[in-house]
Amino acid sequence: MDLTSEITKRVTIFESYWHHLLPARDPQRLYEAVRHLPLGGGKRMRPVIAMLACESVFGEQRMALPFGAALELMHNFTLVHDDIMDKSLVRRGLQTVHIKFGESTAILAGDLLFAKSFQAMHELTIDPEMFKELEVDLVQCVLDICEGQELDMDFEHRKIVSEKEYLHMISKKTGVLFQLAAKGGGRIGGGSQDEVDALANFGMFLGLSFQIWDDYLDISSNIEVLGKDIGNDIRNGKKTLIAVHCLSHSNAEQQAVLEAIFGNPKASDQEIKSVLEVFKTSKSIEYARSVALHYNHEAKTNLEKIQPSAARQLLLELANYAIFREK
Ligand code: IPE
Ligand code: IPE
Ligand code: MG
Ligand code: MG
Ligand code: MG
Repeated sequence: MDLTSEITKRVTIFESYWHHLLPARDPQRLYEAVRHLPLGGGKRMRPVIAMLACESVFGEQRMALPFGAALELMHNFTLVHDDIMDKSLVRRGLQTVHIKFGESTAILAGDLLFAKSFQAMHELTIDPEMFKELEVDLVQCVLDICEGQELDMDFEHRKIVSEKEYLHMISKKTGVLFQLAAKGGGRIGGGSQDEVDALANFGMFLGLSFQIWDDYLDISSNIEVLGKDIGNDIRNGKKTLIAVHCLSHSNAEQQAVLEAIFGNPKASDQEIKSVLEVFKTSKSIEYARSVALHYNHEAKTNLEKIQPSAARQLLLELANYAIFREK
């Protein structure tokens, strides 16, 4: 089995399904803003996980497509608003929505994507009991993301954040959506409670490792590969796991570098590089990587609780991708 082409195949199936949910309409400018990111690329991790989770319990893949679309729309809503909060200029290699269309239209575009997520849910062909459960889960998921995003911003203004607090924050801002993708896919596929629980745990642990790796890419990658601004987390003073570790494992000289640059919105690319050096010498990157590997391993251990299948193998492959990816 060619794993990459099997995953690409599912991305293609998803793309051809969900486009009808994003028609161009009037007011033209609003819908251009709405379509800008969703149609501008993206890895489609969450819908593919939902499809594969459904298949992994021997359900029909197409049954999970509307749910995958609901998650991807919700994800895109959070990205549009996240880019306003993080003052990001580039995403998916494109100008962010608020830079291209202005903040007011970007806020509305985000709101519209949020509403469209529920519209997509109504294309599910499942029994009303299951629909209700998934809808309740989706609502809870968005509540958690909002809480996580607030914590993420609150931490910018805190000098010290513990690792436990960081993990709690990313479980909310990122973990819950991956968790719901795997859990919901398993539910739609008719999985047993044990299987659905194992998939939910898989999703959460995958999400934690995915976010730790995302934080690493923010300082180590380049804009052409990543398609996002580099060094934004440092300029915003984000308490990533790397920063959390470094702030309590650096000497006076390293602390001085951090003090001058971390949280400075005007830090130059050269200054960002010097923070990267401090992160390296304090072994904070190595440390964050070991934590990401630990959670990634936990994700895979949970997968072992479901029956072996091609879909399970692909989920395992996606877990590897989450922490070895370049974008
Ligand atoms: C970005 O998610 C937001 C995070 C949770 C780090 P992705 O890295 O999945 O973004 P796209 O959808 O591929 O653009
Ligand atoms: C984003 O975390 C999580 C959500 C959008 C909810 P980041 O702020 O690190 O994501 P990127 O790096 O901008 O994609
Ligand atoms: Mg953010
Ligand atoms: Mg961001
Ligand atoms: Mg990031």
